[in-house]
Amino acid sequence: MEKIKMILDCDTGHDDAIALMVASKHPQIDLLGVTVVAGNQVLEKTLPNTLSVCQHLNINVPVYGGMSKPMVRDQIVAGDIHGKSGLDGPVFEPLVRKSEEKHAVNFIIDTLMNSEGDISLVPVGPLTNIAMALRFEPRIASKIKQIVLMGGAIGLGNATPAAEFNILADPEAAHVVLTSGVPIVMMPLDLTNTALADMTIIERMEAIGNKAGKLFGDIMRFTLKSQALNGLSAGPVHDVTAVTYLFASDIYNCKDVYAEIELSKGSSYGRTIFDMNNRYHKEINVRVGLSLDLNKFWDIVEETLRRHE
Ligand code: BDR
Ligand code: CA
Repeated sequence: MEKIKMILDCDTGHDDAIALMVASKHPQIDLLGVTVVAGNQVLEKTLPNTLSVCQHLNINVPVYGGMSKPMVRDQIVAGDIHGKSGLDGPVFEPLVRKSEEKHAVNFIIDTLMNSEGDISLVPVGPLTNIAMALRFEPRIASKIKQIVLMGGAIGLGNATPAAEFNILADPEAAHVVLTSGVPIVMMPLDLTNTALADMTIIERMEAIGNKAGKLFGDIMRFTLKSQALNGLSAGPVHDVTAVTYLFASDIYNCKDVYAEIELSKGSSYGRTIFDMNNRYHKEINVRVGLSLDLNKFWDIVEETLRRHE
């Protein structure tokens, strides 16, 4: 079976860490590298967080540090959800694992330019690295097989009433990506907020009895507490739904639509406008996820965590 080549671009982050666990061990995925961006916290935190997860689980994939600031707007982080470190909860061994010398944007460009056009990008943080790569070397657009991202909201946002965090953290970058002409699949909040780990799911993953199951538990027990502020007794694993789409698109219900990003700096800044009823009659540029088979999704997560140490 030919594996699906992918680059994970993340801002680790609780759900990012689980996305990394799934991407690095699923038998159908060939994870070429992990690129890191500022988002849930500053890059000085999201990069070591990513390396700590790799070190802890012996994930031997090259990790590249990327953009530390958004393209245009002032930086925002999500300390209210992910804590001061960006990955509060789990306790890791002192960090020895190092990132690669090469900048994430250069890694993305070089890898794509040397490819056969068979690499998918899976960004699960702000889109700064991807947008910078597209601006720096526009020829990569025709080399990207598809971009499957977590971001946006058809309905209400989570960072503001109008906007989802990944898009709000760098709306101009999201605009670059959505206007790039690359095939794009978006997992919006409306879908990712249904992928909720409650205590039953947490105990199921912990019962695997390995380090990955324990890490899942440590991560989601913290998320449960931070999300409890929003009245939830379960925590969403947003970013994982973008990774599983790559090899299990048949468990998703999607719609092809035109989508754009609100860039005027009022209260709707960073809103994703999905033209669900084709009011604009514009060319379709996005496949948006509407729902997924949650039983099959959690089976995939469990089976993949079992493959870890
Ligand atoms: C997104 O924002 C981050 O907090 C999560 O990691 C996810 O990528 C959800 O809005
Ligand atoms: Ca993320």
